[in-house]
Amino acid sequence: MNLKGRSFLTLKDFTPEEITYLVDLAAQYKEKKKKGILHDTLRGKNIALIFEKTSTRTRCSFEVAAHDLGMGTTYLDPSGSQIGKKESIADTARVLGSMYEGIEYRGFEQSIVEELAKYAGVPVWNGLTNEYHPTQMLADMLTLREHFGYLKGLRLTYMGDARYNMGNSLMIVCAKLGMHFTACTAKEYFPEETLVAQCREYAAQSGATITLTEDVDAGTKGADVIYTDVWVSMGEPEEVWEERITKLSPYKVTKAVMDNAGEAAVFLHCLPAFHDLKTKIGKEQGSKYGFTELEVTDEVFESAQSLVFQEAENRMHTIKAVIAATLGAV
Ligand code: CP
Ligand code: NVA
Repeated sequence: MNLKGRSFLTLKDFTPEEITYLVDLAAQYKEKKKKGILHDTLRGKNIALIFEKTSTRTRCSFEVAAHDLGMGTTYLDPSGSQIGKKESIADTARVLGSMYEGIEYRGFEQSIVEELAKYAGVPVWNGLTNEYHPTQMLADMLTLREHFGYLKGLRLTYMGDARYNMGNSLMIVCAKLGMHFTACTAKEYFPEETLVAQCREYAAQSGATITLTEDVDAGTKGADVIYTDVWVSMGEPEEVWEERITKLSPYKVTKAVMDNAGEAAVFLHCLPAFHDLKTKIGKEQGSKYGFTELEVTDEVFESAQSLVFQEAENRMHTIKAVIAATLGAV
């Protein structure tokens, strides 16, 4: 397997074998890290981290992964660069590409990260766009494989806004790896038809299935994995909150949902999560709309079925695998 020089923009660009290779590599790096075995094989190289939206996990994962690999990093925060405002994406790409061995981008449209990759001349990694969140998928797959021991055949149900980055990306990775994907949500939050059709083609090759349903009981029955994400994503306007709460409340992950899935089911969430009122936004919106938890109850979030912190840690090991593989460290 040789991924040297490749960008990592969406899992649509990667074969099932390449995706599995990255998960395997991440598991190897995780073991090295746990044993304290140094792996700084990219000493002397540097990467740029562009964040047009905020981040805890993705930013820290890129920084720690790069430093573990012996590399330097430069973090450009949402206000700290000229990108898109005073300088075009193509010009930014050529400038950064001349100084850095790789560029991470988190921001808005997928077309921006695609354009960066077109002009940079070095690998570009998607740290989340409106449409996709591919590095998150590798962490999720590593977490599920650690827990179940296999991926093919697992039944994953995604509840909430399934037409945004998380729903789209989970449908793609499940379709590629032979897992059964269900979007269980209100019809207007189903993933876009063209993407569903494309994923059904992947599914035909892998043995996966894609189901879209509004029925919570049928959609979660016997699932191995119940997955959710925030109902309002970064960059979305304040006005959407009310509609999301109304339309998506029936798709909150509750104990009843987990019980319907079964006691062997696990709960995943990319985080951050509104499972209580211990956040500024949670408190504000909670008092405005009268809720104490949103997409998942605190009971489920804190339960033994919840693997969310293992999943968060795995962001770092999997991002390390992406950097190492595409920069030719392995
Ligand atoms: N899951 C995730 O991408 O988290 P951050 O927004 O904190 O990076
Ligand atoms: N859908 C969320 C994912 C955060 C990791 C967002 O885009 O804000």
